[in-house]
Amino acid sequence: MSAPSTVLVTGGAGFIGSHACVELLDHGYELIVVDNYSNSTPQVLTRVERIAGRFVGAIYELDIRDRHALSAVFDRHSVDAVVHFAARKAVGESTRMPVEYYDTNVGGTTALLRVMHEHGVHQLVFSSSCSIYGDAGSGLLDEATPARPTNPYAASKWTCEQILADVCRRCPEYTVLCLRYFNPAGAHPSGLLGEDPCRTPENLMPYVAQVAIGRRERVRVFGADYPTPDGTAIRDYLHVVDTVEAHRVALDHLADGPGMYVYNLGVGMGSSVLDVVATFSEACGRPIPYEVTARRPGDVAELVADATAVTRAWGWRPSRDLADMCRDAWRFQQLNPYGYAGSARRPNLKR
Ligand code: UD1
Repeated sequence: MSAPSTVLVTGGAGFIGSHACVELLDHGYELIVVDNYSNSTPQVLTRVERIAGRFVGAIYELDIRDRHALSAVFDRHSVDAVVHFAARKAVGESTRMPVEYYDTNVGGTTALLRVMHEHGVHQLVFSSSCSIYGDAGSGLLDEATPARPTNPYAASKWTCEQILADVCRRCPEYTVLCLRYFNPAGAHPSGLLGEDPCRTPENLMPYVAQVAIGRRERVRVFGADYPTPDGTAIRDYLHVVDTVEAHRVALDHLADGPGMYVYNLGVGMGSSVLDVVATFSEACGRPIPYEVTARRPGDVAELVADATAVTRAWGWRPSRDLADMCRDAWRFQQLNPYGYAGSARRPNLKR
């Protein structure tokens, strides 16, 4: 099987999806994007095209759970492979809205799989999450660490992985590359793309950025009583551009052969919540106010990747650090203080 040339990207207007579109357009792929804009805006794709200097082949506003609409897209285009980002992704929200999380993340994935199956498309890069490891204790987590999800978001991703593994076991025509992200953060170095949640940010870095720009008063540090050196929770933050470079490399490896392959994507270094606050303060040149509050339900003390397997298999390794992530996230926040919706209109590429 040869490497794909036309790739359908679900959630292509989202945080990681939009950066992936730039990376794939830069490397000559033809893209079909589907997104329901539930946590993004169509403007994002205009910016993707400006950065790449190329058009996205086709853009469809649809919900991946709508199999008929999705099927019509596959009828219209000859898709070689799918990169599946579309999902709900906030741990805290998932504990309040479990049904929505299972419906979108699991129901969306099975709807996509069914449509792919009906159209003879068998190559998939799937966005999974380190959250499936749950409270695995300190130390680096490799892919053999048993899954113990502690919240509905994590459980939904683990359920998808199990479904995909079973499909690959039973249907030898499938190749599924499952990437377990640790904590993607940062922004495109142009300042044109970044993380701009439609509602109050649930994730740490966009929240800190909104405090830095003055849209929010202070960061709430969820718990300072964890068994970590400064008492705040430790995560492995990975620059979003490194994250999407891994997806581009993954597409090259879809041709390696059938089956399901699972890799961690991380840096292999942990940073605490207070490390993030301090590094962002340096990036923006002012102290970021914060207060310690109660732990967030479903959170765990520490998640740091052993990400050596993907380097051994594909040669991919991240090259950016937390300071780069904070610098790029701050640039995006300064250039877009009110996000995509609040920014001045700039000329688009002519279609
Ligand atoms: C979670 C997933 C991760 C996934 C990511 C996608 C877990 C354990 N991890 O990351 O796999 O890629 O969602 O969005 O489920 N925090 C604060 N104040 C805030 C926000 C966050 O102190 O306002 C803390 C959290 O408690 C956590 C850290 O910052 O310790 C990072 O939180 P967040 O950015 O939400 O990501 P995770 O929950 O780690």
